[in-house]
Amino acid sequence: MIPPRVPADGHDAAAEGDVNLSPRRREWEAAHVGPTTRALLDDDAKYFLHQSLSTPCMNALASASGIWLTDVEGRRFMDFHGNSVHQVGHGHPRVIDAVKQALDVLPFSPRRFTNDYAVTLARRLVDLAPGDLSKVLFAPGGAEAIGIALKLARIATGRHKTISMWDAFHGASLDAISIGGEATFRRDMGPLLPGTEHVQPCDPRGCNFGCGGTCNARCADYVDYVLGKEEDVAAVVVETIRSTDVQVPPRAYYERLRAACDRHGALLILDEIPIGLGRTGTVFAFEHYGIVPDMVVLGKGLGGGVFPMAALIAREGLDVAGDRALGHYTHEKSSVGCAAALATLDVIADERLCARATRLGERALARLYEVQRRLRVVGDVRGIGLLLGVELVDPVSHAPARDLAERVLYECLSNGMSFKVGQGNVLVLSPPLVIDEADLDRALDIVERAIMTCSP
Ligand SMILES: Cc1ncc(COP(=O)(O)O)c(C=O)c1O
Repeated sequence: MIPPRVPADGHDAAAEGDVNLSPRRREWEAAHVGPTTRALLDDDAKYFLHQSLSTPCMNALASASGIWLTDVEGRRFMDFHGNSVHQVGHGHPRVIDAVKQALDVLPFSPRRFTNDYAVTLARRLVDLAPGDLSKVLFAPGGAEAIGIALKLARIATGRHKTISMWDAFHGASLDAISIGGEATFRRDMGPLLPGTEHVQPCDPRGCNFGCGGTCNARCADYVDYVLGKEEDVAAVVVETIRSTDVQVPPRAYYERLRAACDRHGALLILDEIPIGLGRTGTVFAFEHYGIVPDMVVLGKGLGGGVFPMAALIAREGLDVAGDRALGHYTHEKSSVGCAAALATLDVIADERLCARATRLGERALARLYEVQRRLRVVGDVRGIGLLLGVELVDPVSHAPARDLAERVLYECLSNGMSFKVGQGNVLVLSPPLVIDEADLDRALDIVERAIMTCSP
């Protein structure tokens, strides 16, 4: 067996998020979980294959509702993590009702047949999407939808190469990790897809292109350069805004990327699986950039947080693979999943969640900038809508403060708040969009207090 490659202190600098093998996690468990939870955790560890970022787990849940998770011992946590499925909160009554009704009427739709839920959802997505994004395929998960996009790009262009970004995540399947850029998923996996070239993502603070403090989108010019050298790249695949550590490129980045793809005949595929559907303040995050991709992939929250659902939306002109199997997944036109998605889109529209994300996001960012001004360990604060990142650094060397980030995470968990840590030192705050001001303020109080308590 290959031994785990997590360093002795449990920190994996290359990891997407908090590592489940770290001593701090074990400490939290020892201090908080009682015998009932322990028994569940032990059985989980006994029956599930152990893997980075899940088993062994740290706690067990009994229920989830709205912004809240409740563990088996009755502790409640505000869920600012939610695996990005929770735009409408957990168990939104309209989503649950829609799912129950679909279950009663049409629990499954074999592939030979279509159904009204699926067709209505396809029409709704096409109506929401700008430009000529007017053909869809559904899949049971984000990675599968990304795989469909890659296949379609190959068929449509007759090329197979891709350019994607280091540090990106596009799913855990072999094709998705080939274009992904995280060592946690790629190492020891053997040969990945050929032709999957990687470039540096737009990351103003870690920029190697000499942009300095202000991004001049030179990394986009580099993509143009690589496209020109290779000549036969099928697609550039990018997370419009990288959610793992909240990287928000400037408008010029996407203007240049779009122009570069057009110049070299490559398709632009945007992955909006965790950040689409309102989180950034617009239905599609690319709306912030005034461009339209050739394909966009949605997932996660599309199923209302209750059903695995993803969708590829492609340009009309890419409907060129009628005699190939692009997807063909068993739950492709799931009546129940599509009912959940339709109810989710209704909630996003009726509860004006895009505008709400913008308004609450601005409120939260203003507060976090204040925290940054007061606390020197806060190296950067960034965000868009209700996707917020707080980067913790050593106040003297400005090196990533990974141990501090972990301590802050566990302190927040002890005080009833859960979120994700990205790139080891970025607190990623991603609340349900239905959260009210008072709870948002309370959550930010918890984070601020935790940073103060845990700072050296
Ligand atoms: C940006 C991005 N793309 C793709 C995926 C994969 O989605 P799924 O887990 O549904 O396969 C994820 C999941 O975290 C993601 O964050």
